[in-house]
Amino acid sequence: MLKILLSGACGRMGRQVANLAEDEQAKIVCGVDVHVEKWSDFPVYPSFSLVEEDADVIVDFSRPEILPTLLEYAKARHLPVVLASTGYNEEDLAAIAEAAKEIPVFRSANMSLGVYVLKTLAHQAAQLLPGFDIEIIEKHHNQKIDAPSGTALMLYDAVSQPDTIPVFGRNGRTQKREKREIGVHAIRGGTVPGEHEVGFYGPSEVVTLSHSAQDRSIFARGALKAARFIARQKPGEYSMDDLAKDLVK
Ligand SMILES: NC(=O)c1ccc[n+]([C@@H]2O[C@H](COP(=O)([O-])OP(=O)(O)OC[C@H]3O[C@@H](n4cnc5c(N)ncnc54)[C@H](O)[C@@H]3O)[C@@H](O)[C@H]2O)c1
Repeated sequence: MLKILLSGACGRMGRQVANLAEDEQAKIVCGVDVHVEKWSDFPVYPSFSLVEEDADVIVDFSRPEILPTLLEYAKARHLPVVLASTGYNEEDLAAIAEAAKEIPVFRSANMSLGVYVLKTLAHQAAQLLPGFDIEIIEKHHNQKIDAPSGTALMLYDAVSQPDTIPVFGRNGRTQKREKREIGVHAIRGGTVPGEHEVGFYGPSEVVTLSHSAQDRSIFARGALKAARFIARQKPGEYSMDDLAKDLVK
């Protein structure tokens, strides 16, 4: 059994991970969450400094604010980490790269293998359809804090060129679309777990690639697979590319 320390244990994703852990031959030994709620059969602490249990890996679905403490804790114990939170800034990404010199770090803004396939196909389509206008649309539930979603930004990276400029919504613009723009649009409402669409708009034809998450379990299952994978890696930064290659071996 893989022993997991679950950061963000009382949140929506934390609960999904805990509920599905056994299916993936893993066990949550304890959790960390700023807002401790008693709901699980494992202890949850308000801070990493209070953790007493030994774990093989940390899985984090919380907020970027916890990153410095989490990385310090992981480095001190040589613990591999799965970072599934979204909304990291440049400083956070630099801290992750620095930590990865000492510990294995897996990071993906979307842990779904289906979204990984969407990203791979979107990248190929962008190369095969030069000159097509590209627009990305994402939809999420009304509780999501960051916009656009980390996945939309990941898709943007997959289809953009060095001279591309992102345009986040077009409200108030009074000029025509530039060729090198990629529009990124966010919709928030209801309980949508996550929908992403990459549209390629050419002369007289449109190609649309899309992924629809039917519930959040896909992210939890992906994170548990990533935890098993990262637990046997050397220090470094790892992504869904590495996990996908490992799964098809
Ligand atoms: N990578 C993916 O596939 C994927 C999928 C879904 C959600 N997410 C991301 O995971 C994160 C959590 O999503 P969620 O829907 O579970 O949110 P949530 O708000 O339901 O849960 C977040 C939990 O983290 C806790 N938390 C907040 N700040 C904290 C801190 N500083 N220290 C410790 N705990 C803290 C909160 O108390 C809460 O229990 C978000 O960043 C979300 O965008 C990623």
